[in-house]
Amino acid sequence: MRIIKLDAIDSTNTYLKRLSGEGTAEDGLAVVASLQTNGRGQMGTVWSSQEAKNLTFSVFKDVSFINVSQHFYISMAVSLAVYQALTCLGITKIKVKWPNDILSDDKKIAGILIENVIKLNVITGSVIGIGLNVNQTDFKGLPGASSLLLLSGQVNDLDEIMDAVLKQIDVYFQHLKDENFKTLKSQYESHLFRKNKPSTFKDAEGSVFSGYIVGISDFGNLLVKIEGNTIRSFDFKEVVLLY
Ligand code: BTN
Repeated sequence: MRIIKLDAIDSTNTYLKRLSGEGTAEDGLAVVASLQTNGRGQMGTVWSSQEAKNLTFSVFKDVSFINVSQHFYISMAVSLAVYQALTCLGITKIKVKWPNDILSDDKKIAGILIENVIKLNVITGSVIGIGLNVNQTDFKGLPGASSLLLLSGQVNDLDEIMDAVLKQIDVYFQHLKDENFKTLKSQYESHLFRKNKPSTFKDAEGSVFSGYIVGISDFGNLLVKIEGNTIRSFDFKEVVLLY
């Protein structure tokens, strides 16, 4: 498994996408940077992380065995891999906030940005970017964020944690290859943040409504039970979980 270690880069996802475009990214190639000058989050947001305190890394995976319609299973596999690696490190109360934020004690400790390379309706490769807050203690302006150090009181070695996450990604990608979709979905659903709890959402039109998260569709949509026991299905651009 090749790992490229960089002091600084715009974004490890952008860098790895460049390598993939040049044809020089092999399955399992990882890129980690001490500092990202243009770290990117989901939906065009910014991912900021203190230099050398946290993990900001990306890994390239060959996913040509996956059907485009099953692309959300890549996301499930990665969320579960991060969940499992952190559980093995003794972090407790971990939840996966759909689609793929990792929380502990209701605070965000990791974010995942997956960028698939699709050619002729086939996903040829996936650039999986993970930002994991490890040793940062000061999150000014981000009251919903936390880190492993804040949660466990222990300073962690960044290389060891990245190694643990990469190993779990291999484990969960084997489940993808073996088409263990039911297991992946049921594990993912069992860790879902606010599942079966009364919650408040905002839809794409800005309407606020109440409901219960009941699960995930096969295409990765969030299934919410609303008044009258109707189930509404949302893709990630269509709904925000407020609380
Ligand atoms: C999110 O929660 O919005 C996703 C955050 C993903 C951040 C990681 S850090 C490594 C990789 N490079 C990036 O520019 N983004 C991802």
